[in-house]
Amino acid sequence: MALLHVLLRFQCSVLLLWLQLASAQLPNTGSGAIAKPECQDRCGNVSIPYPFGIGDGCFLGEMFEIKCNNSEPRYGKLNVTDIAVLDGQMTVATFIASTCSDQETFPTYFRSGKLTVSNTKNKFISIGCDTWAYINSSPWIGEGCSDCSKNEVTTDGSCDGMGCCETSIPPGITEYNVTVQRDPSKNLSFNPCNYAFVGEKSSFRFSSSYLQDFKNYGSGRVPVVLDWTVGYVPCKEAARNVTTYACGPNTVCTTGNNFAPGYLCKCETGFAGNPYFNLTTGGYCQGT
Ligand SMILES: *[C@@H]1O[C@H](CO)[C@@H](O)[C@H](O)[C@H]1NC(C)=O
Ligand SMILES: *[C@@H]1O[C@H](CO)[C@@H](O)[C@H](O)[C@H]1NC(C)=O
Ligand SMILES: *[C@@H]1O[C@H](CO)[C@@H](O)[C@H](O)[C@H]1NC(C)=O
Ligand SMILES: *[C@@H]1O[C@H](CO)[C@@H](O)[C@H](O)[C@H]1NC(C)=O
Ligand SMILES: *[C@@H]1O[C@H](CO)[C@@H](O)[C@H](O)[C@H]1NC(C)=O
Ligand SMILES: *[C@@H]1O[C@H](CO)[C@@H](O)[C@H](O)[C@H]1NC(C)=O
Ligand SMILES: *[C@@H]1O[C@H](CO)[C@@H](O)[C@H](O)[C@H]1NC(C)=O
Repeated sequence: MALLHVLLRFQCSVLLLWLQLASAQLPNTGSGAIAKPECQDRCGNVSIPYPFGIGDGCFLGEMFEIKCNNSEPRYGKLNVTDIAVLDGQMTVATFIASTCSDQETFPTYFRSGKLTVSNTKNKFISIGCDTWAYINSSPWIGEGCSDCSKNEVTTDGSCDGMGCCETSIPPGITEYNVTVQRDPSKNLSFNPCNYAFVGEKSSFRFSSSYLQDFKNYGSGRVPVVLDWTVGYVPCKEAARNVTTYACGPNTVCTTGNNFAPGYLCKCETGFAGNPYFNLTTGGYCQGT
């Protein structure tokens, strides 16, 4: 078991050395409308910007339909918590895999449908002592681990293998399962449960108290960032068909995040608004 732990720690450090791509954070500003006229622009606390929309005629193709049920936005079966129109990203809630000393184990299963899991915004994170976490996705299988023998040696804010470990995920994942295991011969009172999940890196900060209990502010869920694009063809090809091209006036067309097929629209420098709108809506890219 000791050798296995050393190996796991080593593997974990190697994974940590993987290049961490910095992701540009664009301001989510916009002048004027964010939804089409006559359309609902929010559901509960979540803004729903075009090309996404609620109800017939409000979204750009079925790929962008949001259902608002009891003030809770749903994208297919996913619970939406944020849509970043300029970044080409959507944030959804997912469950946390866990296993506890009473042998109770909860694996998780996540399927993002047509969207891909962002490999720049998310990490595979595991929490606990003697943890061995697996992610099984198609086509990638990954491992995470964390070790610790005393609560005091872990450091708040540091997810470097002591009580917490994070590893990168590859681009293109649309489905994954997470399972987490612990050393059954150990029963550490300060670490009754171990956890693992794929989640938004920027919203996670390790705390030693998570060894005791990690519910993420009581929600039992963590945010995962997904990438979306318009259509399935690159900019050049898309721009040839004016009836289907989604970028409005004063925009530039860009490739999708992580080379996802399709394209995204951005306002030209000096312009702000919703780049997916044309002149008949108030929210298109206008001079600032
Ligand atoms: C909206 O946010 C407020 C304050 O953050 C919260 O109390 C409320 O429950 C939220 N409502 C919904 C529908 O999520
Ligand atoms: C709306 O939510 C309720 C409970 O939250 C659920 O029973 C119902 O099936 C949902 N409807 C749709 C269309 O998703
Ligand atoms: C999504 O919302 C429904 C209704 O509120 C809830 O039952 C379900 O647990 C949520 N799922 C996730 C992953 O947050
Ligand atoms: C995840 O688990 C489910 C149910 O156990 C299974 O049907 C699915 O094929 C698994 N997916 C992957 C990517 O391993
Ligand atoms: C670990 O300790 C808890 C309570 O402290 C107990 O309920 C559980 O049965 C123990 N598990 C093992 C495998 O000894
Ligand atoms: C543009 O797209 C529309 C809708 O898919 C299609 O009917 C039309 O033939 C396309 N036009 C050209 C020039 O390809
Ligand atoms: C603007 O877009 C709407 C649909 O989003 C369309 O009905 C309208 O014809 C478009 N107007 C122009 C000038 O392209």
